[in-house]
Amino acid sequence: MNGRDLVRSMKAVGSAGAAQRLRTVRAAWRTRRADAAGLPTRGAERARVPGPVQDVEPGPGGGVVRFSRSELRITVAVNGAVFWGWDGAGPEPSYALAGRSPEPDPRAVLEPDKDGGWRVVAERATVVVSRHGAVEVQTPGGVTLRRDLPPRWWEPVDGGAARWMQRSEVSADARFFGLGGRASGPRLRDGTYRLWNTDPGHAFGPGDDPLYLTMPVQLVVADAATHLVFHDTTWDGTVTLREGEEGAGSGHDRPGTSELRMSGGPLRCWVMVGTPARVLLAWASLTGAPALPPAWALGYQHARWGFGSEQEVRRIVAGYQERDLPLDAVHLDIDHFDEHQVFTVDHDRFPKLPQLAEDLRRDGVRLVSIVDPAVRAEPGNAVYDAGTVVDAFVRDGAGQVVRGEVWPGESVFPDFTHARVREWWGGLYEERLGQGFAGFWHDMNEPTSFAAFGETTLPRSARHALEGRGGDHREAHNVYGLCMARAAYEGLRDLAPRERPFVFSRSGWAGLQRYGGTWSGDVATGWPGLRASLSLVMGLGLCGVPYSGPDVGGFDGSPSPELFLRWFQLGAYLPLFRTHASLRAGRREPWEFGPEVLEHARVALAERRRLLPYFMTLAHLARRTGTPYVRPLWWGIPEDRALRDCEDAFLLGDCLLVAPVLDPGADRRAVQLPRGRWYDTATGRAYDGPGQILVDAPLSRIPVLARAGAVLPVRGEDGGLELEVWAPARGRTGGGLVVPDAGDGWEEPEIERYVARWQGRKVVVEREGEDGVSAPPHPVRVRGVEER
Ligand code: GLC
Repeated sequence: MNGRDLVRSMKAVGSAGAAQRLRTVRAAWRTRRADAAGLPTRGAERARVPGPVQDVEPGPGGGVVRFSRSELRITVAVNGAVFWGWDGAGPEPSYALAGRSPEPDPRAVLEPDKDGGWRVVAERATVVVSRHGAVEVQTPGGVTLRRDLPPRWWEPVDGGAARWMQRSEVSADARFFGLGGRASGPRLRDGTYRLWNTDPGHAFGPGDDPLYLTMPVQLVVADAATHLVFHDTTWDGTVTLREGEEGAGSGHDRPGTSELRMSGGPLRCWVMVGTPARVLLAWASLTGAPALPPAWALGYQHARWGFGSEQEVRRIVAGYQERDLPLDAVHLDIDHFDEHQVFTVDHDRFPKLPQLAEDLRRDGVRLVSIVDPAVRAEPGNAVYDAGTVVDAFVRDGAGQVVRGEVWPGESVFPDFTHARVREWWGGLYEERLGQGFAGFWHDMNEPTSFAAFGETTLPRSARHALEGRGGDHREAHNVYGLCMARAAYEGLRDLAPRERPFVFSRSGWAGLQRYGGTWSGDVATGWPGLRASLSLVMGLGLCGVPYSGPDVGGFDGSPSPELFLRWFQLGAYLPLFRTHASLRAGRREPWEFGPEVLEHARVALAERRRLLPYFMTLAHLARRTGTPYVRPLWWGIPEDRALRDCEDAFLLGDCLLVAPVLDPGADRRAVQLPRGRWYDTATGRAYDGPGQILVDAPLSRIPVLARAGAVLPVRGEDGGLELEVWAPARGRTGGGLVVPDAGDGWEEPEIERYVARWQGRKVVVEREGEDGVSAPPHPVRVRGVEER
């Protein structure tokens, strides 16, 4: 929250606000004082580079190359990922890794290279180290994908964390993606991106950076190959990107550059090379499979800050029912807490929450609860008292519990980097389950603490357990949300072992997918905010977090009916489909925008429900392969440069191409098609890619194209599973995967594989099994045969 927003919110809340304002001033002073006392002052520094190579020591999967002033450890892992760490850094400990680091690949060996350098040759990549410590990653064919110049450190003369810088070059045609959730992408333009999870304090647009969920993960797509590079360091830093230029000055290519500057932490990284799918598979095997959501979390969800009472929740749900609009979940924000205190209920306005939950559940609607990490610092508040007993709260360098200011007033913050604290916190969800909640929405966990000036988070000098290693907030900040998600996920696994936990979190870091998903946070209502929402979902998916979505309609203000509808139509094809808005914003129920919007929103809702089995299949595939549900158009064809630059459409799984309307007043739009035949699902008309086409996009729908040959599972009219099949192009075959899912629980469904082919003038679909082909066990509907 910045000064202006603070003043605005003060006006809205009156004298309670004035008291809060005073507390944010006090909190800011406290932070400043704590850091002045508890942080090392930056004095004289000594710069260092690795220096010339001295000797090497081969080891499993690579070895160690010693330079006069550093050493470089290189290990190729069995999953094909390459690790290297300077100053002897190894892969562990790491908050990103799902478990122990993968076994080294015994086939990868360290051998001498030309000019006194060394190299490690592995199946999918070759790493070449120059005698001064430049590190090159090459494809097996010898094309350079990335060249890291020798790093540089600045070490405080009187000890403490060293800053470092790593400059890298990529090919001139390469495009950058990733770095967590960025509003200006998904293609990351030239500029500096900060790695420090931040609540911007106001509704954000494409120009705001950083946001709540950053991570040092770059996905670099180039003609020669795609690679993912992950600098496993949680500290504050920046990445400055500059795309290259082919045939720049006098016909020579200018390479793209990435310059990473970190304020501390180990200089170590992982690199994965291959196709986008291979790279994401290796990334998921390293950092963990995405948690499988329960089926209802792939339905439509409605939220609002300020429903205010049980009656209002019932009124809204009835509004959906009366209009026959599918609804799968309602989210309760901080206004249902007793004075904003986490794990409490305002019994005056929500006197019978378990009853409400049960009634809604009977109608197929789940309740989701917001959970904020900040605990009001007041004896008598049960969470505060219990947390104090187990010594759960973050302390400063002098041993005092750190106090900040959040919704419930003066607050303290659990140290989720301590296993004992996670276990205690995870147990608190028992109260939530008792109230009837089925899912959890983690907020304010960057963590955010309001401050009148300075940073709106904990003091950098605040102490954290960091799994027993001990350290301060400079190192713990970026993984605070990740560790909170872990606490909830593991707690819920214990409390409700038969159910899949549903957790989504505003902040996080590499590996968040193991525990759940995320959402946009407070995206600004407006057409730029609509664009930013798509950028976030695509970028996060490429960083391994496949489940996310925006506040449909935007967080603040009131969208025009047209903007609301276009947002809704996009949301219907994103993993998390949720309307949400601020206390002070206009309504977001689809019937609040007039009868025309209502009718079109109904169509979007019905289509979402119809596609549910497809979404569920995509969730299973994401878990098994790391491939996100929402993929950029270049996913299968990264060498198609026109696709690489296309940011206004996406693939939903293998079968569908969704082209949302992102501009006002449009009734048709251009769509960049990947190669192959595509059908406009509304008209059945076939188009052949690659190339650009113009398709109708009336207010009633956004263009969705189906890939010829696609076989996708949909929900039939009777609620059963049906196969929708799009005719392959003549002379070609098609197919698809279907994962029939029970909706919840842990039973491992068998993947069904289908092939579609022409037989005379008919398209037939068969199931492929171990013992040959058989007729599909589901009704089949073929499309694209007659319709041309
Ligand atoms: C934050 C969240 C928003 C929520 C609000 C009140 O701004 O991002 O979604 O409604 O806090 O809890």
